[in-house]
Amino acid sequence: MTTKTEYTLHPDIVSFIETCLQKEHSESYLMDILHKIQDKYGYLSEEHMYEVAQRLQVPASTVSGVSTFYHFFRLQPRGKYAISVCMGTACFVKGADKVLNAFQTELGIGLGETTKDGMFSLENTRCLGVCGLAPVVTINEQVYSRVTLQQVSELINRILNKDVEKTT
Ligand code: FES
Repeated sequence: MTTKTEYTLHPDIVSFIETCLQKEHSESYLMDILHKIQDKYGYLSEEHMYEVAQRLQVPASTVSGVSTFYHFFRLQPRGKYAISVCMGTACFVKGADKVLNAFQTELGIGLGETTKDGMFSLENTRCLGVCGLAPVVTINEQVYSRVTLQQVSELINRILNKDVEKTT
């Protein structure tokens, strides 16, 4: 974690932190604060985590520890194409974990990470309410149903080809 002293959090978030500081056990609001930052910026940057630690007067390692422990916190910006694998019960039973592994292998990234070129990020999600289509994967707003392991590389290649078409 960096040791920058310049603060960059949005005033709404600063105001929320200040409200938390007026309450007992203000450090217990850390998760809420981190969620607000992620909602605002899409991920938790080192600078923002450091600022939260400073403002809450807790060790930077505490903020960093919470941020890295929970998989729903993103520590890198989302990719141009955000891939999300549903890990709800129905999808899990139908092999969503294997689909997730296949994406990880294909993209060379872990859960919550973004490829170096910024094209793809990978995350998981809770039930999307379309269990009959399990296993379900979303890529940005597009929903893909009954995704098989074989389809994983096809999906990625299809997106890459379309992306190239768009930019040429
Ligand atoms: S469990 Fe995946 S859509 Fe319900």
